[in-house]
Amino acid sequence: MALPRALPLDTVTPDAAPASLTAPKPAAAIAVARPRMPPAEAILPYLQQIDEARWYSNFGAVLLGLERRIAERFAPGAQVVTVANATQALTLTLKAMDLKPGGYVVMPSWTFVATAHAVIAAGLKPWFVDVDSKTWMLDPATVIALSPELAREAVAVIPVCAFGAMPDLAAWRSFREFTGLPVLLDAAAAFDALDDARLPAVVSLHATKVLGVGEGGFLVTDDADLAHRVRLQTNFGFHGSRDSQVAATNSKLSEYAGAVGMAALDAWPVDRLRFLRAGQMLRIALMGCPEVRFQEGWGADWTTSVCTVGLPPGSAAQVAQSLRAEGVDTRAWWGGGCHTSTAFLDCRREALPATEALAASTLGLPFFIDMDGDEIARIAAVLDRALGAG
Ligand SMILES: Cc1ncc(COP(=O)(O)O)c(C=O)c1O
Repeated sequence: MALPRALPLDTVTPDAAPASLTAPKPAAAIAVARPRMPPAEAILPYLQQIDEARWYSNFGAVLLGLERRIAERFAPGAQVVTVANATQALTLTLKAMDLKPGGYVVMPSWTFVATAHAVIAAGLKPWFVDVDSKTWMLDPATVIALSPELAREAVAVIPVCAFGAMPDLAAWRSFREFTGLPVLLDAAAAFDALDDARLPAVVSLHATKVLGVGEGGFLVTDDADLAHRVRLQTNFGFHGSRDSQVAATNSKLSEYAGAVGMAALDAWPVDRLRFLRAGQMLRIALMGCPEVRFQEGWGADWTTSVCTVGLPPGSAAQVAQSLRAEGVDTRAWWGGGCHTSTAFLDCRREALPATEALAASTLGLPFFIDMDGDEIARIAAVLDRALGAG
């Protein structure tokens, strides 16, 4: 390469190009997420099945096959109903539960806004309750403590699996028995950890989740009647005839989404290990940073598509800024909690000190299935520096 003539001679030696030409390029920014769906060749056999059957939506063999395969992940008797996305699945399940219109649904504010949107879309009202500061999830004992208002005004409870973690399902089943209130689990990010259908649960199949079809979700439940009613909700209220049995909508998944889901399930055993491996590498790289706390079991017992860590109280925004300055993208996935979103400012709420503390002390670090050692080492080094500086 010809050197620019304007360079002062003393910057040029016979062996070395000028510093301006050899200086290492700044490392590329590390994105907070890099979703990866099944490649075209893995989907192709299922697309060919669709071509042959000439059946493109309305519960063809591919989508029903996907539902069957997902149901096999649970004890016999589990029913899976696919829906256009998890937000719709939550809304339609609440509708199918036939709850008193306008009633309160107890839910954490510490969740993605979809949970609250689903409640309102079902004609109900969110009632934000604080989460446990260790698990980041609603605790049945906290909800029981709302009695007697609970008995008078709540019509259901939605515990949320924080970033894919599993709450104590046995405790929630006891809660349901004790209070008589329906419980619907928002397990949007918990495809991996969820293996029990004794409480109805909704999982997201969005492209950003560990197992995605693009846009999609499902309800899993051992309650065949509830599954049937949700199916009616997704398909104009039809069941076996052109008579619309209930007021409903169209929220089906097509055969094409089913094809992607089949390919994703084929890859899941290996993909799961790759997510776990990336998680383990990140945990090991951050062993020297005791201020960084992982969710219990994250990357070891269960996996998910995000890595949200706990940081020293109140430090999340400052750490995020330091990481951004060094090209490491982060995300406050749940912002300040739903109660701080404009759409939900008027919603009923209890005191939310744990939620507010989590909003200020947790941060989503970059995490994806094919993170490499260099990226992980860089994230750890930058985070270590950011915490040291704080
Ligand atoms: C807790 C929670 N609930 C619901 C949803 C909505 O899922 P979907 O995008 O499939 O509608 C999400 C999405 O990330 C979520 O995190």
